[in-house]
Amino acid sequence: MRRDITLSINGQARRLNVDDTASLLDVLRAELELKGARFGCGAGQCGACAVLVDGEDKASCQLEVGNLEGKAITTLEGIGTPERPHPLQTAFLDLQAGQCGYCLAGIIVGAKALLDRNPDPTRAEIAQALAWHLCRCGAHNRILAAVALAAERMRAEAAA
Ligand code: FES
Ligand code: FES
Repeated sequence: MRRDITLSINGQARRLNVDDTASLLDVLRAELELKGARFGCGAGQCGACAVLVDGEDKASCQLEVGNLEGKAITTLEGIGTPERPHPLQTAFLDLQAGQCGYCLAGIIVGAKALLDRNPDPTRAEIAQALAWHLCRCGAHNRILAAVALAAERMRAEAAA
């Protein structure tokens, strides 16, 4: 049913008139021009569309916007900007952790969820947290290294 819905996206209240069964992914991309989250499988199995919902790494293609009022939604755009990149984004760039880049928005979202709850993850913990995020280019080794590098830099910064 089409109705007014207010979503909290990247710290801002966004009022929309949309079908409440529309997926968050469609609303982000088509209504709000937030293109970080990408369509991959449309079935909750690839992670390309991941966003944070109350800090958890979720497949936005599987979430109906009508169920999301009152929840804090963070997209890739809310994690960092070209002017002020998040340490994860800097580490991915520094290690060139990716090839086509299609998976990376979702992977950075997933990594952010991990580092927010565990600032010093082992390689196995990083791999486990990102296990549902597929990378068709096979860039996994560099992706895991980039998350570890970002975590190391963030810990050093926090200790300084
Ligand atoms: S597009 Fe949502 S999990 Fe693949
Ligand atoms: S870098 Fe191409 S899908 Fe991951």
